[in-house]
Amino acid sequence: MRYPFILMLFLFCSPLLGENPKDRFPFQSLDAKGAAFVGSESCAACHEKEAKEFLQSTHSRIDIPEGKSEVHGCEMCHGPASLHVDKGGGTDNIVNPKTNPSSCFTCHTDKKFQFQLPSHHPVLEGKMSCSDCHSAHGADVRPWSATTLSGINEACLHCHKEQKGPFVWEHEAVREGCTTCHQVHGSLHAKMLVARDNMLCLRCHTQMNFPIIGRQGHGGRLPQGTCFSAGCHTAVHGSNFDDHLRY
Ligand code: HEC
Ligand code: HEC
Ligand code: HEC
Ligand code: HEC
Ligand code: HEC
Ligand code: HEC
Ligand code: HEC
Repeated sequence: MRYPFILMLFLFCSPLLGENPKDRFPFQSLDAKGAAFVGSESCAACHEKEAKEFLQSTHSRIDIPEGKSEVHGCEMCHGPASLHVDKGGGTDNIVNPKTNPSSCFTCHTDKKFQFQLPSHHPVLEGKMSCSDCHSAHGADVRPWSATTLSGINEACLHCHKEQKGPFVWEHEAVREGCTTCHQVHGSLHAKMLVARDNMLCLRCHTQMNFPIIGRQGHGGRLPQGTCFSAGCHTAVHGSNFDDHLRY
């Protein structure tokens, strides 16, 4: 069962081979100081909690136990740790992806691109981190399960209180998860939406007798602008005042 993971790992990493090695690993500055990979066993003595959690985690499943390489255990994200271990700790001799996500991008190359799209969460700007939504050591790096998306909403509502509700008139779509409408790493469209303007709403709100939507003819309205712009359904996340989510 290990082979598919290892294969995937190489597929993830192979596009990197042609690049400037300086961009490849954020560990370069540690290498320059003479740091070497020491393996995860040494970490447990001082970081018991992380070491224990990590055994169950998504990323320990892709671990290659033989050999001490940059894709091994803790050091796949924290870099070569010999100086850190020798000194018995410190912050300038170890990579912390909380402030420097570039170690994540060595494998997840596409994610760096996503965070550079016009509308994005400010991770590259250093205002938030992958770990605000992902649990790097935890049993599941996606802290929501594949079957219910409500865990995603919880992660989001932690910061975005306005969208929380409960609303007298809910928009059922929100129950399916914030990511039905938002591409949260980044998007070409404003507000990180998965589609532009009316295209977003019409993904679900099309019916046989279109341009009737719900019970209203919308033939005259659609050309006037986006469904959720001023005067129309501005309360897309839910409303306490209007059953058609107008305000
Ligand atoms: C001898 C004890 C010791 C060992 C062994 C050790 N650490 Fe640490 N580590 C510490 C201490 C102490 C701190 C807190 C440093 C501080 O706040 O100044 C720390 C902090 C860290 C941090 C946070 C740095 C930051 O920016 O705040 C990371 C990440 C880390 N260690 C990873 C590791 C990894 C991975 C290993 C194994 C390869 C390891 N440590 C081995 C003692 C140790
Ligand atoms: C998949 C990447 C990844 C791996 C593998 C990984 N970590 Fe981390 N680690 C992170 C991230 C991300 C953070 C920042 C978490 C946060 O924002 O609080 C972190 C933070 C830490 C910290 C600092 C915690 C604090 O409270 O500031 C320590 C210590 C640490 N890791 C130790 C380890 C040890 C030990 C291992 C191996 C058993 C390990 N990590 C494996 C990604 C990883
Ligand atoms: C050494 C390469 C490597 C590094 C470094 C790495 N990852 Fe991963 N990551 C993978 C692979 C391979 C998978 C796929 C594992 C699987 O599907 O079980 C994965 C899975 C994930 C997933 C879950 C994908 C899913 O579909 O459930 C998330 C989220 C993730 N990584 C985030 C991160 C973050 C955040 C960091 C940095 C803190 C990081 N990764 C660092 C290789 C890596
Ligand atoms: C604002 C919250 C948030 C932040 C910050 C975030 N993610 Fe994610 N990530 C998500 C959500 C939500 C999903 C699931 C998307 C879906 O299922 O549509 C996801 C999915 C993933 C996946 C697996 C699915 C895929 O698209 O391949 C990986 C890998 C990943 N994220 C890596 C990262 C890395 C690396 C960072 C930091 C550089 C990061 N994420 C920062 C919320 C976030
Ligand atoms: C750790 C806090 C935090 C978490 C968790 C978080 N966000 Fe954000 N979100 C932010 C910040 C900060 C901004 C940028 C605000 C700005 O640039 O003015 C933002 C911006 C946004 C925007 C765009 C707003 C705009 O004006 O363009 C949307 C949409 C959004 N987040 C949705 C989500 C979703 C969906 C999730 C859950 C997957 C989520 N956020 C999780 C902090 C967070
Ligand atoms: C039915 C689609 C849909 C769903 C589901 C959805 N949103 Fe939105 N969201 C939108 C639209 C459309 C906008 C842009 C509204 C505008 O420009 O006036 C938006 C805007 C936002 C903004 C920016 C608010 C502002 O005032 O600029 C945030 C933050 C946000 N959404 C968070 C969330 C969170 C958190 C969830 C999940 C609880 C969520 N959204 C679910 C459609 C959706
Ligand atoms: C993921 C599917 C989905 C998306 C995308 C979506 N909706 Fe909905 N919407 C629903 C469902 C399901 C209902 C509840 C059943 C119904 O009334 O059709 C609903 C109900 C509504 C209602 C209340 C119905 C009424 O009688 O007035 C309005 C208004 C509405 N949506 C507007 C929007 C707008 C505006 C957008 C685009 C920002 C949008 N929806 C995007 C699924 C969706």
